[in-house]
Amino acid sequence: MSNYVKFFDTTLRDGEQSPGATLTSKEKVEIGRQLARLGVDIIEAGFPAASPDDLYAVQLLAQQVGQAKNLHAWAGEPLKVPVICGLARANKNDIDKAWEGVKDADHPRIHTFLATSEIHMKYKLRLDPEEVVERAVNMVRYAKSLCEDIEFSPEDAGRSDPAFLYVILGEVIKAGATTLNIPDTVGYTTPTEFGALIAGIIKNVPGIEGVTVSTHCHNDLGMATANTLAGVQAGARQVEVTVNGIGERAGNTSLEEVAMAISTRKPIFNLEHGIDTPQIVRSSKMVSQYTGMVVQPNKAIVGVNAFAHEAGIHQDGMLKNAETYEIMRPESVGWTQSNLVLGKHSGRHALRARLQDLGYLLNDENLQKVFERFKRLADKKKTVTDTDLLALVNDNLQQPQEIYQLVDLQVVCGTLGMPVATARIRKPDGSVVVSAAIGTGPVDAIYKSIDSVVNLPNNLQEYKVNAVTDGIDALGEVTVRIAVDPSTNGMNPVLSPQTSEQSARTFNGHAAHTDIVVASARAYVSALNKALEALGMKAGVQ
Ligand code: KIV
Ligand code: ZN
Repeated sequence: MSNYVKFFDTTLRDGEQSPGATLTSKEKVEIGRQLARLGVDIIEAGFPAASPDDLYAVQLLAQQVGQAKNLHAWAGEPLKVPVICGLARANKNDIDKAWEGVKDADHPRIHTFLATSEIHMKYKLRLDPEEVVERAVNMVRYAKSLCEDIEFSPEDAGRSDPAFLYVILGEVIKAGATTLNIPDTVGYTTPTEFGALIAGIIKNVPGIEGVTVSTHCHNDLGMATANTLAGVQAGARQVEVTVNGIGERAGNTSLEEVAMAISTRKPIFNLEHGIDTPQIVRSSKMVSQYTGMVVQPNKAIVGVNAFAHEAGIHQDGMLKNAETYEIMRPESVGWTQSNLVLGKHSGRHALRARLQDLGYLLNDENLQKVFERFKRLADKKKTVTDTDLLALVNDNLQQPQEIYQLVDLQVVCGTLGMPVATARIRKPDGSVVVSAAIGTGPVDAIYKSIDSVVNLPNNLQEYKVNAVTDGIDALGEVTVRIAVDPSTNGMNPVLSPQTSEQSARTFNGHAAHTDIVVASARAYVSALNKALEALGMKAGVQ
């Protein structure tokens, strides 16, 4: 058996199913590129049957990230080209859509699934076990007629009868499945149980030696990483994971935890993987910013405290020998020590070089935009750190088309009267209007003045402010999430692959500025522009 473990990243599919983590297709491509740089073997790009938007995003990923010519042109180096995978329920329509999504990739894969636990078969599918086997076999065979690389998942395998799993998995192998993924869909199993489940499958399923066995664990009891590692110790050679462990409910297995466990405890696992671990922190930050899902400070590997040693006794030990309290070097996962990077006299060249070191390859237009903002920031702040730069770059990459553009803003607030905001906004037809509103606070007043011009009814689900660095002159980052009513004309609702339920589509807006009131306004306009873009509006058109 090979000792290489394939990393199947499902941040863009299962991760995006985290409440509120909706990503635009542009953001998905940016994350996909970073995942390729991180070295993942397979990217599950989405669930194309959910809506035309989801299908389009998967197609874009297949072309931009899944084709060597485009990926290499973007990266300027021959990165490994990941397999691009699309999820499908076990029906022809979903499989057709998944194929439409991935077929342009150099290495396409269709992933189809059907529930196998008694509770799911009886109450969700309303099918007998024999009918479940028949449908799984027919749909794997159908998918195989379109695509060579087929993954099958018996949903809720963690609560399924192992004897039934041996039968259905043996049959789907005969029908053409090349990867068998074993999901602990509800995060119910323990490491001993999950390891035994994988071992039982490897021992008892006919034809298993010709396919890859995969783990897919959820974290409802906080055991996703432990279960995944038990799975690979039992012989699984693919792990399904997400960056920062995001995903439905308590999330999926964390990519970074599994990769670093395998690397740090080599003699225990005796396994190899293709993850370029110094890319981990950058990937984590990008996913956190784009999804608006903050990483808890004490999160293993990627939390800000993961390598902080504050207690005096620890510091003393650390100074004498870092290994006293450190089992991994922070640099090995991409935490950089460098602080002051560029000053106000630094040129475009130096900025490009520093950004390249940080893993960002910007085209000339984006570089120019970041450069202008860097200059303005360097005028205000004495020291511009890597963290500041990353905030500016992410702010820039995350701005959608400026369908509506915030030109100027003024807010009066305090204890002496009502908060009043006045905004000058450029409309899609190019005209500039001024609107004013009062609110319960400065942010409420701004949002009301913007609403009176943009007029897209929505529900503000989240508003967060975060200081990028220490100090009074720090950049403030604001993230907002709005939900747009699915009944809004032209807005595709979100469709859950597991429950087939529909919910409101959400959009994240993100902005960084030294003035948090300005950042708040820009973040809101950015979220509105993303929603309008999804509705088919374009900048510069009435
Ligand atoms: O958790 C799960 O069962 C899934 C399947 C679609 C693989 O995400
Ligand atoms: Zn899942």
